[in-house]
Amino acid sequence: MRLDLLPTPHGTVALVDLPDASVDSALAALAPEEQVLASGLSSVRRRELIAGRTALRALLAPELAHHPLLPDDRGAPVLPAGWVGSVSHKGTHAAAIVAPASDPRAHVGVDLEVAAPARQDIARWILTKREQETLADRGRGATLRFSIKEAIYKAVDPFVRRYVAFTEVELEVAEGVAYVSSELPLAIETTWREHGGFWLSTARAVGR
Ligand SMILES: CC(C)(COP(=O)(O)OP(=O)(O)OC[C@H]1O[C@@H](n2cnc3c(N)ncnc32)[C@H](O)[C@@H]1OP(=O)(O)O)[C@@H](O)C(=O)NCCC(=O)NCCS
Repeated sequence: MRLDLLPTPHGTVALVDLPDASVDSALAALAPEEQVLASGLSSVRRRELIAGRTALRALLAPELAHHPLLPDDRGAPVLPAGWVGSVSHKGTHAAAIVAPASDPRAHVGVDLEVAAPARQDIARWILTKREQETLADRGRGATLRFSIKEAIYKAVDPFVRRYVAFTEVELEVAEGVAYVSSELPLAIETTWREHGGFWLSTARAVGR
């Protein structure tokens, strides 16, 4: 198993690559409650859950290592008191971000996507008209925007607790960050980078 730790302005990101040979030992290192959760999943989802929990746990202090990281009623991972976090996976890879809970309350999101054009033209359904008009590269440019919006969704869902359509947020992408406009009652910051063939995006949302 490979583990990379990447600092971001929204918290440290752990990137895990969990090959087949390491899945069973990673499962054994999870909390018993997480192992029960994993046992009811398909093999693909099982590996995703194990890789994501392994990445989350890599960011927690040793005294919290046995805290079970279970999903809330919306599917987001619940961190130990005083912490917030988020997970994403792609194939054998998973990314997690953990940050101290702040006052005013903030939530963070992370997303991992292959940094290549999608098989279909996704620009039409994930971008606003204005974003489509100004986007020169509908291939990688579209998957980058998809990744940033997914990270945003994970940071805003704990506040709004509803599906947020991709066209409810508009991005102006600059080097390493994207400026966000939306009607949501939240201040939203994002970062992005290309890392090991993936788009890695983070988001932080705070009530305004
Ligand atoms: C939930 C969603 C973001 C997951 O994204 P995905 O690309 O399918 O999968 P990822 O691997 O990146 O992320 C999966 C993780 O998301 C997390 N997640 C699921 N529901 C969540 C929620 N409501 N809030 C925050 N995080 C959530 C979980 O940690 C899950 O992993 P786990 O089950 O192993 O813990 C996506 O399926 C979705 O429903 N999006 C809603 C629309 C949207 O993104 N709008 C963008 C505009 S803001």
